[in-house]
Amino acid sequence: MKHLLDINDLSKKEIEQIFKLTDKLRNKKTNLLKQKTIGLLFAKPSTRTRVSFEVGMVQLGGHALDLSGAKMQVFSGREAISDTSKTLSRYLNAVIARLYSHEDLLELAKHSSIPIINGLTDFNHPCQALTDLYTVKKEFGKLKGIHLVFVGDGSDNVCSSLIQACYKLGVKITVATPRYYPPDAEILKRTHHHATVTDNAKQAVKNADVIYTDTWISMGQEKQKVERKRRLVGYQVNAKLLSYAHPQVRIMHCLPAHRGEEITDRVLDGKHSIVFDQAENRLHVQKAILYLLLK
Ligand code: CP
Ligand code: NVA
Repeated sequence: MKHLLDINDLSKKEIEQIFKLTDKLRNKKTNLLKQKTIGLLFAKPSTRTRVSFEVGMVQLGGHALDLSGAKMQVFSGREAISDTSKTLSRYLNAVIARLYSHEDLLELAKHSSIPIINGLTDFNHPCQALTDLYTVKKEFGKLKGIHLVFVGDGSDNVCSSLIQACYKLGVKITVATPRYYPPDAEILKRTHHHATVTDNAKQAVKNADVIYTDTWISMGQEKQKVERKRRLVGYQVNAKLLSYAHPQVRIMHCLPAHRGEEITDRVLDGKHSIVFDQAENRLHVQKAILYLLLK
């Protein structure tokens, strides 16, 4: 039994195994997880993570339960995380959890006798980063020599997992972010300062194969909206920024996008964008993760 709470829970070999399995299970409907049930314990909204795990489970012959928001005692503060975890362990084969606090996720995992898969916390988003590097590999046919440049909020949960995944798989990563939002210090330390951090987005994208961005206002940060928009305004991924990059550069975004904020319509819908291939790959990669942890 194994949890997936952080990229660090996986070895390089296991990630490569996930990518191979992804290719194998892509577009296949099987009965590999027949009679197995997962619960989607989501405290925050989700389109891609929730739907891709649910559809993925169905395509593997299993079943998924939506345990989001007001449906659950734990989210109305009427039940301890530990008791919820112990109870769900008696019914389900795995839980996909999207929570605010990462400590709450660790608490859930601590009391669980079934795999807990992190579907995003305020701290990280490992399933997203796995899909992202799978997508880069598919797009370029390799990971070796690729340079990914994250532009925007360096303290972002997706950015944290990307730094870890790039470190593990030997992909060069640069984070272009204003000084207010450096990447998480613990992540930088754990990855032996593999990522280059700069506040110069124009310079950073010059040698980029991929420019990646995410929202400036993550779920739970709504009160900081005005300040964040003011501080991040120079970090929009737009046609001007693209003009400094290689003509073949690809644009990625985990979605949901806040069009006109961190990215313009022209770039998101333009010829460099691979965001919907990236979104589709969530489904294929989720299936591999489910199979690996539940088989
Ligand atoms: N990228 C991602 O996790 O999207 P959702 O919030 O829609 O799940
Ligand atoms: N950083 C974003 C990611 C959404 C998938 C958020 O946490 O809202």
